[in-house]
Amino acid sequence: MQLFGPKTYVGLDIGSNCIKVVQITKKKKKYALDKIGILQTPENSFANGEVINMEEVVEQIKKLFDKFRINKKNVVVSMFGAQVISKRIVIPKMDLKLLPEQLKWEAEQYIPYELDEVNIDYNVLKKCEDPESMAVFIVAALREGITKNIEMAQETKLNLAGIDVSSVALFNVFNANYDYNDSDRIVLFSIGAEFTQFVVVENKEIVFCRDIPVGGRSYTQEIENALGISYEEAEALKISASNGEEVPEEVMNTINMAHEFFCEEINTTIEYYLNTTESSGFSASYVTGGGLKVFGLYEKMVKTYRVKRLDPFLKLNINTSGKSESMVNNALDFAAVSIGLAVGMMK
Ligand SMILES: Nc1ncnc2c1ncn2[C@@H]1O[C@H](COP(=O)(O)OP(=O)(O)OP(=O)(O)O)[C@@H](O)[C@H]1O
Ligand SMILES: [Mg+2]
Repeated sequence: MQLFGPKTYVGLDIGSNCIKVVQITKKKKKYALDKIGILQTPENSFANGEVINMEEVVEQIKKLFDKFRINKKNVVVSMFGAQVISKRIVIPKMDLKLLPEQLKWEAEQYIPYELDEVNIDYNVLKKCEDPESMAVFIVAALREGITKNIEMAQETKLNLAGIDVSSVALFNVFNANYDYNDSDRIVLFSIGAEFTQFVVVENKEIVFCRDIPVGGRSYTQEIENALGISYEEAEALKISASNGEEVPEEVMNTINMAHEFFCEEINTTIEYYLNTTESSGFSASYVTGGGLKVFGLYEKMVKTYRVKRLDPFLKLNINTSGKSESMVNNALDFAAVSIGLAVGMMK
């Protein structure tokens, strides 16, 4: 570990739609973006948030690191979807030294896996509604997913510095760029292809998060079904429509209908959160993710949830060479999680 001088970490976010990588340096409390690269994820290499074709993904990651000349040291990768379970629990106040042992018992009740199948991390929250109790936020990550990431790093000859959860990375990128108050209750959305990360921040801590299984892919599937075409044709039509090109009216109608379905899914989670906590509402909400490119989705999010677009580069110094300026602009909606993975190591 480097104690003095600048630190550099690489955030690698392997999604089902594309693989994003950033190289970030921290110098005198400021973060700087040194390098950035994005490549498409090989087709059919993902299912339910898990890599099912490791070989092709490994080849693409190697290509990504070579093409954009990214450092292979200090790499941090993400886990999300079904591989991660989180839960806020309330238990009687106890000595913090006894907590890890107690949490094993608690986790058995709340986590649908055997204890030896998961790695558990936790945070004792600053506030709890009952003064005799303590609220703890537990995150359990499937060991199988952790092992897969380690194998992937070995195959790609990357030096793995850490594995973090996408929702936590989203929280970290937000903290690195925005100032807010302890009393603010903030919602963060990251709309991916298969999943939408939904994170609630209170007292500057994560108090709730869920990976909702909807995203850009849901739109493609709706178009595929409505028009009776292949998935690839449907994805191409979705992107054409989103770029303002002319497409059959049925495509536009399907996208508009899919907005309603998308919001219904989000609303279910919001209602669940509000019903299971004493929370009334939110002070602000921010959204990011490639799914925002889908025609009309950002406007729908603004109207329904009064979101602002999260800018993951807001406070970052951009050190990338002139040529990559347009890359940085194009990456605005894609880079949040990868940046959060890197800055999370340098807090
Ligand atoms: N120009 C575009 N027009 C319309 N949709 C787009 C465009 N670019 C990307 N998308 C859509 O954005 C969605 C999400 O992209 P993103 O790269 O953020 O997902 P991901 O992180 O790979 O997915 P996940 O995290 O769910 O595995 C995809 O469904 C993709 O089709
Ligand atoms: Mg993603």
